[in-house]
Amino acid sequence: MGRITFIEHDGTEHVVDIEAGKSLMEAATENGVPGIDADCGGACACGTCHVMVEANWLPATGDMLATEAGMLSMTPEKTETSRLACQVTVSEAMDGMVVRLPEFQM
Ligand code: FES
Repeated sequence: MGRITFIEHDGTEHVVDIEAGKSLMEAATENGVPGIDADCGGACACGTCHVMVEANWLPATGDMLATEAGMLSMTPEKTETSRLACQVTVSEAMDGMVVRLPEFQM
């Protein structure tokens, strides 16, 4: 058990309980966190689940595959800690993780 905090562009915080095994996208959308469109449903094909993970938590999100990197390369607000939330699997080790949402999804 643990919690992940999503922070909207305007600073609004949403704290969700960790359900290990779900994607970070599912953790957000199933808990009413706005700002993640997830148009492709988690197939790494739309880029509308872009999030920025706080830097100290980036290692906990695991490796990035080439398909995700390719999608992210087309994201205007991409940062050094950007991930596609559908490609990150939530685990108990993410208790306390902070994830920021971009102002817009592309
Ligand atoms: Fe489409 Fe993540 S939901 S890329």
